[in-house]
Amino acid sequence: MSERIALCPGSFDPVTNGHVGIIRRSLRLFDRVVVAVTVNPSKKSLFTLEERMQFIKESFPNEPRLSVQSLEGLLAIEASKLGAVALVRGLRASRDFEYELQMAHMNRHLTSQLETVFLATEASGSYVSSSLVCEVARLGGDISALVPAHVAKALTARLSGDH
Ligand code: PNS
Repeated sequence: MSERIALCPGSFDPVTNGHVGIIRRSLRLFDRVVVAVTVNPSKKSLFTLEERMQFIKESFPNEPRLSVQSLEGLLAIEASKLGAVALVRGLRASRDFEYELQMAHMNRHLTSQLETVFLATEASGSYVSSSLVCEVARLGGDISALVPAHVAKALTARLSGDH
């Protein structure tokens, strides 16, 4: 049987422990997982595309079934090119649901072969988002339990002098 590939898309600015958990669990469900990091020139990100990709790679140092790539353009087209059978998205709480459902329907409209699989994030990460982590870090709060250690270090370095 051909390998089952899942695509985990996102902006990952930066990757959080919640994202890491979703990617880790996707690796249990699929043969190969491709993390697709969005290139969005109109959205100002704290970290460059290369940095965001590197943070994810560093979070999975010994995982040959995982690859990290950039995503420019339509996710559904990229998923077809890769032969992905599923998109995996984490759901933190009901507030995520409307937006995620709309995207799932749109992606299914574009590529009927593609299923969106929703994984409930760990309860401990239900209140965590990349933007909130950045805000808390910028204001001097402790984010060490919310992101991988190398990301916490990079956040401190990037934001030092900001406040
Ligand atoms: O981590 P995010 O920012 O919530 O991820 C949003 C993402 C990357 C899943 C979404 O913006 C996306 O799919 N972008 C790629 C462009 C695209 O296909 N847009 C139509 C989505 S239905």
